[in-house]
Amino acid sequence: MQTSIPKLLTILSIPELRKRMEAPGRGRTKEIYQTGWEDWQELQAREYWINIKQSKKNNFDDYIKACGVPKVFRYGGIQPINEIRSLFMTGGFGTGKTYKSVEILKGFVKKLHCGHFLRPYKNTPIFITVPELLLKIRSCFNSQDVSEESMLKDYFNTPLLILDDLGAEKTTDWALQSLYIIVNKRLSEEKQTIITSNLSLDELKEKLGDRIASRIAGMCKVMQLKGKDRRFKSI
Ligand SMILES: Nc1ncnc2c1ncn2[C@@H]1O[C@H](COP(=O)(O)OP(=O)(O)OP(=O)(O)O)[C@@H](O)[C@H]1O
Ligand SMILES: [Mg+2]
Repeated sequence: MQTSIPKLLTILSIPELRKRMEAPGRGRTKEIYQTGWEDWQELQAREYWINIKQSKKNNFDDYIKACGVPKVFRYGGIQPINEIRSLFMTGGFGTGKTYKSVEILKGFVKKLHCGHFLRPYKNTPIFITVPELLLKIRSCFNSQDVSEESMLKDYFNTPLLILDDLGAEKTTDWALQSLYIIVNKRLSEEKQTIITSNLSLDELKEKLGDRIASRIAGMCKVMQLKGKDRRFKSI
């Protein structure tokens, strides 16, 4: 009769069982025979899974870094924000827009399947400020290695894109066109997008034009953050 794996594990912990299996002279084969081949395979799979889970735990911070999150925001706690799809967060300086957006990203990464951590940083969420994004796109103009199109693909395809500080960029026709392409693609593919800005939607309309503002309004739930600038700590 074969012992079921949960039953077996209540009798012996995994390290203990492993020690027994690998003990010299005891005969691994005999042990496998006793526990049953299927149980042994199940145990191997279980150990493999435990290793992957451990790898997720160990690599969580590196993963968040690879998403582009700046160091100051990397180590805050996670407040689960349930079922929030695309968001437009607006509010004054230091009201916590970037902080909140990173919490959403961390919540997202937490929910990723452990196997994702075996192929790190493929199809990851992306955090980037809009001025930085435009700089990156611009740098592709003269690059032999990366085309503008292949660079943009990351921003089209990522399951979660955080565009921080929209409205802080210089508005040129070229910048507006790049932003339009990204926002329009995210909207049409129904991809989760979090946008933060010091400007309200009406102010964005003035700055970026109706075309982009209208798409953001259609795609995002608006969240207004109020309060004092948290960077000025009270004494
Ligand atoms: N919920 C929070 N708990 C603890 N600290 C927070 C929280 N929200 C924001 N902070 C801290 O307050 C500071 C300002 O927050 P944050 O940078 O997110 O503001 P912001 O709205 O993005 O500002 P800006 O418009 O200037 O970019 C940061 O140091 C951040 O770590
Ligand atoms: Mg910010």
